[in-house]
Parts: sequence; C-alpha cells; structure tokens
Amino acid sequence: MAKKLFLFLVLLSVSSPVFSQSEEFTFHGFKDVGKNISLNGVAEIEQNGILRLTNYTSAVLGHAFYSIPFEFKNSTNGKAFSFSTAFAFAIVPEYAKLGGHGFAFTIAKSKELKGALPRQYLGLLNEKDNGNFSNHLFAVEFDSVSDYEFKDISDNHVGIDINSLVSNISVNVSCFSQGNSIEQKLNLRSGKIVQAWVDYDSVSNLLNVTLSLSSSKPNVPILSFPVDLSPIFLEYMYVGFSASTGLLASSHYISGWSFKINGQAQSLDLSSLPSVPRSKKNHLPLILVYSFSAAVSVALAIGIVLYMIKKFVTMDVIEPWELDIGPHRYSYRELKKATGGFKDEELIGLGGFGRVYKGTLPNTNAKVAVKQINNGSKRGMREFISEIETIGRLRHRNLVQLLGWCRRRDDLFLVYDFMSNGSLDKYIFDEPKLILSWEQRFKIIKGVASGLLYLHEEWEQTVIHRDIKAGNVLLDSELNGRLGDFGLAKLYEHGTDPSTTKVVGTLGYLAPELTKTGKPTTSSDVFAFGALLLEIVCGRKPIEVKALPEELILVDWVWEKWQEGSILEVVDTRLRGEYDEGEVVMVLKLGLMCSNNAPAKRPNMRQVVSFLKGEVPLQEVMVAPDEYGGKKFVSGRATSARADKVLHSYLESPYLEKVSSWSSVYHCKRVVDLEAGSTSTLSASLTEDERF
Ligand SMILES: *[C@@H]1O[C@H](CO)[C@@H](O)[C@H](O)[C@H]1NC(C)=O
Ligand SMILES: *[C@@H]1O[C@H](CO)[C@@H](O)[C@H](O)[C@H]1NC(C)=O
Ligand SMILES: *[C@@H]1O[C@H](CO)[C@@H](O)[C@H](O)[C@H]1NC(C)=O
Ligand SMILES: *[C@@H]1O[C@H](CO)[C@@H](O)[C@H](O)[C@H]1NC(C)=O
Ligand SMILES: *[C@@H]1O[C@H](CO)[C@@H](O)[C@H](O)[C@H]1NC(C)=O
Ligand SMILES: *[C@@H]1O[C@H](CO)[C@@H](O)[C@H](O)[C@H]1NC(C)=O
Ligand SMILES: *[C@@H]1O[C@H](CO)[C@@H](O)[C@H](O)[C@H]1NC(C)=O
Repeated sequence: MAKKLFLFLVLLSVSSPVFSQSEEFTFHGFKDVGKNISLNGVAEIEQNGILRLTNYTSAVLGHAFYSIPFEFKNSTNGKAFSFSTAFAFAIVPEYAKLGGHGFAFTIAKSKELKGALPRQYLGLLNEKDNGNFSNHLFAVEFDSVSDYEFKDISDNHVGIDINSLVSNISVNVSCFSQGNSIEQKLNLRSGKIVQAWVDYDSVSNLLNVTLSLSSSKPNVPILSFPVDLSPIFLEYMYVGFSASTGLLASSHYISGWSFKINGQAQSLDLSSLPSVPRSKKNHLPLILVYSFSAAVSVALAIGIVLYMIKKFVTMDVIEPWELDIGPHRYSYRELKKATGGFKDEELIGLGGFGRVYKGTLPNTNAKVAVKQINNGSKRGMREFISEIETIGRLRHRNLVQLLGWCRRRDDLFLVYDFMSNGSLDKYIFDEPKLILSWEQRFKIIKGVASGLLYLHEEWEQTVIHRDIKAGNVLLDSELNGRLGDFGLAKLYEHGTDPSTTKVVGTLGYLAPELTKTGKPTTSSDVFAFGALLLEIVCGRKPIEVKALPEELILVDWVWEKWQEGSILEVVDTRLRGEYDEGEVVMVLKLGLMCSNNAPAKRPNMRQVVSFLKGEVPLQEVMVAPDEYGGKKFVSGRATSARADKVLHSYLESPYLEKVSSWSSVYHCKRVVDLEAGSTSTLSASLTEDERF
C-alpha cells in the first residue's frame, strides 16, 4: 500500500500536474476512495471506512489530502474563488479529558507539508516557517490544547490560521442546533461526532465556520471572519486535513467529507457515516467522572440549601471539636487584617495546595505566611484538622514552623513563619536573580536532609512528607533550607471513602512504585529527595520538556555521564567551576542512589545524612538507577519516548484514576506547563467540580 502510494506520488511529481476535473466531491466514509485521497504520517483508513488522522502514539502527525489540486483562484484577475466544505469529525482522547493536540481543515500548496512538526504545530508548520507569508497556508484549527506560544484562548477552541499557528480569530467551541439561536457548549474531546462547515464567499469576502451535532446546518455560524483569501491562495491548492499528537494523544477521526468550489457543499447525513471506534482505554474513569459530576450536582444542590440555612443562623460556626486542637487558632478577622484583606499584592505563591499570602500579625508585628487551602470535602477537612495538631508539634530548625490555623467555612488557613528568601526553585532554575554558590547549595542540601530525617525517624511517629521538591524547600534569612508543606499531602489523601488512596505529588519526584501501590513511604520521600539533589547540583528539573522535541529525564542523563566518566559535565555551569569536586561527586552519586527505581536499593535518610556528613564514604561502584529485577539498564539517550513512558505510567496508575486524583494530573499539567516555558504540551481540562 505504502509502496503504491509512493509510486503514485512519484508519478504525480514527474508528470505534468493533473488538475481536478470535477469541482466537487463527497465521501460518505473513505472505504473506496482509492487514489483520490493521499495519506501521510500515521494517517490511515480503517476497515469500516473511517479516516483516522492520528492514533494514540505520542508526538506524531497525520495528513490526508484530496490527491488532486483544485483551482482556487482565477488566473486572469487573481481573485480567489468561493468554496464550501462540510466534514464530520470526532476527537477521542487516550485519557478522558486530556486531549493532544488537534486537527485542522487545511488548504495548502502541497499535500505533504514537508518539514511540519507534530505537537502544537498540528502537522502544519514548524518553528522556522511559522508566520511566513510564503507558506500559502489556510487552516481552520480544532485545537484541544491551550498553547501559550500561539496565544490560544483555551484548550477547546476553533481558530482560523493564515500562514501561522497564531490564529487570526478564534472562539471557544460551541454550536447551535438547527433553527435555534441558543448556543450550546461543546467539548472537542468528548468523542462525539460533530459536523463542521467552512464556507467562504469571495464576493463578500466572508469566511464562516458552523458546527452542529446533527446532519442539518444551523443558520448561525460560530465564527465569521472577513478576509480576502486571494493573496493567500496560489492558483492551484490542495485541500485536506492535518492532525498531530503531543505528549498526550488523541485519535482524530474524519468520517465524511464534502467539498465544492463556487457552490454549497453537500451537508452530510451523519447516520450514513462509518461509526467512531470507542476508546478502549479509560472507560472507567469516564464513567466515574460522569457519575461523579451527577453526584456533585446533587451534593451542590443540597450544599446550597444547607449553606443558605447556615447563613441565616450564623456566619461562621466554630464546632466544639475545633477547640481541642493544639496550635493556636487564629480568628479569620485577625488573618484578614494581617494580609490586608487577602490582597493580591500580598500574594506570594500559588501552590498545588492553594494561595499563599504574606502578612503581618496585628498584635506582635510578626511576619507570617498564610496559606489558604480550599477544600470542598467536609469530612476530609475534619480529619485533616486533627492532623494539624501533629504538624504543629513538629519542631526542627529545617522545617518551616506552623504557628497556627483557622477554618472559615470550607476554607482552611495555615499560618507559618515567614521565610524571607522564598522557595529554592526560584534560585536554581531559569534565570535566577541570585546564583547560589556551591557552599550555599551544600548547606541547603544538608539542612533539608536533616529536616527529613527528623520527620522520618527522630520524631515520636513517622511523618512522610509526600511532596518533596524544590518549590517546597524554603530559604530563611540565612539561606538555610527548610522543608515546608509537610503533612499537607494528607489533606488530599483523605477522601470521603477512607479505603481509597490517591497519589499526591509532582511529576518527576513521584517514585515509580507509587503508581502501582499508591502508598507513600519514607522510601518514596527518599526518591523525591534524590531528584532534589540532582536538580540542585545540575540546575535542571527532573523532567524537562523545554528541551523539545526531546524531553530530558535528569536521572538518565546524569547516569549516562557517570558511565562515560564525565560526571562533572552535569554540574550547573552557572557555578563557573567553583565548587568542591569531592562534595559535588558525592552528592551526585547519592542522588543516583536515592533515584533507584527499586525502593529497597535506596538508602534511608539516616544513611543519607551520614554520607553527607562524610562519616561514611560512598562506595565506588554504582548501581544503575534503572536496574532491578535482574534487568539491566540499557544506556541510551533520554528520549521523549522515555519521558512519555514515565508520564504514561502515572496516567495509567489506578491511583490517579480516582476522582480527586485529577488534582494530581492537574499538578502534572502545571509542572509540565511551567517547564515547557512558552509551550504547553499537556493539558488537563479540569472544571472546578472535577478538581476535588
Ligand atoms: C476518484 O476521482 C475520480 C476522478 O476525479 C472520479 O472519477 C472517481 O469517481 C473518484 N472516486 C471516488 C470513490 O470518489
Ligand atoms: C499508530 O500508528 C502507527 C503507524 O500506523 C503504528 O506504528 C503505531 O503502532 C500505532 N500506535 C498505536 C498506539 O496504535
Ligand atoms: C476570471 O476572471 C475573468 C476576468 O474578470 C472573467 O472573465 C472569467 O470569467 C473568470 N473566470 C472564472 C473561471 O471565473
Ligand atoms: C520565508 O520563507 C522564504 C521561502 O522559504 C524564505 O526565503 C524567507 O527567508 C522566509 N522569511 C522569513 C522571515 O523567515
Ligand atoms: C474561552 O474559554 C476559556 C476557559 O474555558 C476562558 O478563560 C476564555 O475567556 C474563553 N474565551 C472566550 C473568547 O470566550
Ligand atoms: C492573520 O495573522 C497574520 C499573523 O498571524 C497576519 O500576518 C495576517 O495579516 C493576518 N491576516 C488577516 C487577514 O488578518
Ligand atoms: C456567513 O454568516 C453570515 C451571518 O450569519 C451570513 O449572512 C452569510 O451569508 C454567511 N456567509 C457564508 C459564505 O456562508
């Protein structure tokens, strides 16, 4: 098949171009299209005749074009012709609610679109030709990822792209039903068959895009754009579709297509088209999410009634059990005053757990950080507040001290010592204002290790941190590293059903066994600590998507350099070679040991602290971080395929499929977004009610 296609393409390119005889076509499915449709990339026509532009493979593209170009422009007066097209499509994401990336109806000067990239480029362009007038590209994109670089308005939009992926106009996806002017929301990732019409009138120079879930065309377009396409079109142009996937993937399907120059394309009868294969994966979470939404609606209704009743009775009830809690209970009024009414100017952080405000306590003038945690679940809240007592009694010079708390309705406020130098991540990634010297970094490492040892072994009961990362290491006025947010992950792990566990944490720091067991241990904290060690020395994040198109897995890279005998190449170049080689190598080796995939191979925090103090030397021979169960780590470049594997193991973990686990996926999204800088590779579409 591929060979034949190739031959055909060769024939096409050597013989004089064959131009379209007829000026229209209609395909109800693509079963018998023969050579009339040219495919490339991963595009395929499935058995039932549906055209699948991409499948669930990450970072691929697919093209399907009508094989013969159409005359799009009058050569005598250079004016573009009118055209009209209708097509039925469906986007079925691999993981419910997480799309990647999208597809576009495309009019282009070639049908191969050579050099085009997948991911946010939708298989249309690449980073060099994006925006170039000589592209002669017109596309209507159906995009399910919000990309900052291209100024996308949301992760569910339709846009008109002229020579560039920065849309000239875009709207959130919605549709009208026939004869009805009420706009309905529509989610591109729903997997539903949607019919789209793109109509261009070259007399009025108006381009319309219309969507519907039925066979008949609504009167109202969702998008109407005045444009003269004459300068964009060449005399002969190809029409077709392009789609791409990113780190996350969707199958993009076209089940029918009609097209006509200078006339109205035939609308498609959706019932006569091949059906869309259902996603084999993730039926469960889909059902869970839906039934969850229903439950939420009911709960919400009840909640509103209760709230109203309560509001009449009293503004803020202090329940008797709250009075027994150990640490100081602040009044809401005090905290409000301290933070100037939770003013935006006082906002110093937006973490996975909520907003953090800077404040000054009215009585003592003490500077504090107030963390506002919004948590819908009443039961979870109560269980968690009982934990506050425990957390409040933890005292160590390398922990951020919890001073007190306050509850107001469903909001929980935790009051901490204010750390004047902020969080560690601001000093080691990107372009920090201050580059920490090796001595400062080593001091922070030793401090955090000692704080974590205290949590694990030195207090009366074992406390697992669960979310160790650079963002949770705070620096006091003397640049001592102090762990923040300890115990907080528990808040999210308390569900309404005590038997369910959910993994909370941040991608890149989550130990691999968590995806299988869902049970955080001291050993999974050690894994995260290992990731932290490597990032402090290297000045890079555990998973970097910035290095597109190849993501970097830090551990793999460090291990590779270790094996090559060039370990010092990984050291942050901003240190300008000013460091103690013995200490740096020791920390890197320790980082590799802690990052071992096998929990049993990782040292415990007591051993880590002895190594750091130099009490015990590290052995010379190192075990590969990836070696366990007798399997040998195969040295190779840290490729995007591996990053995909890592990500997917999290997404496929049953512990991430529980309803509130979406907050973890959301967490992942945030990390990836931040790392990707201007590009968003992964999009979790979370509406408020799905988040918790
Ligand atoms: C393919 O194209 C040719 C020439 O345009 C046309 O005669 C034929 O009917 C087309 N076949 C299909 C299945 O559309
Ligand atoms: C997607 O399609 C490509 C090419 O047809 C194939 O190699 C790959 O295995 C497919 N991937 C999946 C997940 O089906
Ligand atoms: C192209 O434009 C010329 C001049 O305006 C006109 O006479 C001719 O009919 C047009 N051709 C087509 C195919 O529309
Ligand atoms: C646009 O593309 C043309 C042809 O590929 C190239 O010569 C030109 O330098 C490009 N312009 C810009 C601004 O990149
Ligand atoms: C589109 O939707 C996003 C979020 O769903 C919203 O933030 C944005 O304001 C919307 N834009 C328009 C133009 O409606
Ligand atoms: C569309 O946007 C591109 C840049 O993104 C701009 O160069 C072009 O002029 C715009 N076209 C129209 C018709 O607005
Ligand atoms: C586009 O939509 C407008 C507004 O509904 C309508 O007046 C116009 O005729 C439409 N044009 C085309 C080409 O469909």
